[in-house]
Amino acid sequence: MILSIESSCDDSAIAITDIKTKKLVFHKKISQELEHSVYGGVVPELASRLHAEALPKILEECKPYFKDLKAIAVTTAPGLNVTLVEGVTMAKALCISLNLPLIAVNHLKGHIYSLFIEKETFFPQTVLLVSGGHTQVIEVKSLEEMQMVATTMDDSFGESFDKVSKMMKLGYPGGPVIEKMAEEGDENRYPMPLPLSQSPLIAFSYSGLKNAVRLVALDAQEKDYCDIAACFQKAAVGHLLQKLKKYFKTHPPENFSIVGGASANLYLREKIETLLKPFKASLSLAEMKYCSDNAAMIGRVGIEMYEKKMFVDVDEVRTEARTSL
Ligand code: KG4
Ligand code: ZN
Repeated sequence: MILSIESSCDDSAIAITDIKTKKLVFHKKISQELEHSVYGGVVPELASRLHAEALPKILEECKPYFKDLKAIAVTTAPGLNVTLVEGVTMAKALCISLNLPLIAVNHLKGHIYSLFIEKETFFPQTVLLVSGGHTQVIEVKSLEEMQMVATTMDDSFGESFDKVSKMMKLGYPGGPVIEKMAEEGDENRYPMPLPLSQSPLIAFSYSGLKNAVRLVALDAQEKDYCDIAACFQKAAVGHLLQKLKKYFKTHPPENFSIVGGASANLYLREKIETLLKPFKASLSLAEMKYCSDNAAMIGRVGIEMYEKKMFVDVDEVRTEARTSL
């Protein structure tokens, strides 16, 4: 079995996965949403302190499995350095005391492999990764052949939901609450700019849209919030759709997937489904509970890396905030 640890942002999670069957034997996650909600976003130092409390608590429950472990996998990048280091320190201590190899997992690969938790992999995949830190289109051929073909020039898709929520004092994370309010709103009431609509670039940008929402929210009252949420969501998703449509003209998708915390958004899922219809491409999604950060996805990558003996020296392992794959 592999024990995997995730602490790249505000979720402390540990999983244990059976290497042969790929079955998840144990998974527990302690989220810090409540603690960060008052600040309208993640406070890195607070997150780090909360990981230091939560991770040992979860690890305690894993002790019965220690004798069956073959490796420790841990998220090392990208993420907040002060929170990544909490998971990495625990992973190093476990490797030394239990005499096990260490596997350094990229968080973005983790999100991609959330598609395959307790399942076999299948490639190629054109992946849309939408989370709090990233908005990327990635062409995936295998574990080691991944190419990012589009990314954001500023804010990410999920982050823009968080910021719009903060403007209306609706708490953190913003995605679920904005999606819920949008269901009740009129998505045509406020005209919103479609980012980069005149640009030939296959890239994303959310800062302009965010500022447009800010201007509308300044003069708005609480009764207008559902309409604002609906208009914002329509433009935020419309921007993804417009750029994907452009990309598909030269790269028609065969298997398409959406991963990351914001892939839980049902409005986005429905629109992408419609976009894919003419291509007859398959659409894969992670189970709802594995869309946001978790350790099961890190364990799933861990299995692939274990089989390829992709280990890293305990003294060499480094955390990195960089966003590359
Ligand atoms: O993948 P994740 O858990 O953490 C990162 O790696 O960033 O993603 C969290 C992000 C947050 O920005 C959150 O607001 C967004 O995903 N999110 C959503 C929804 N649920 C979560 N965004 C839009 N609609 C949702 N339903
Ligand atoms: Zn994530």
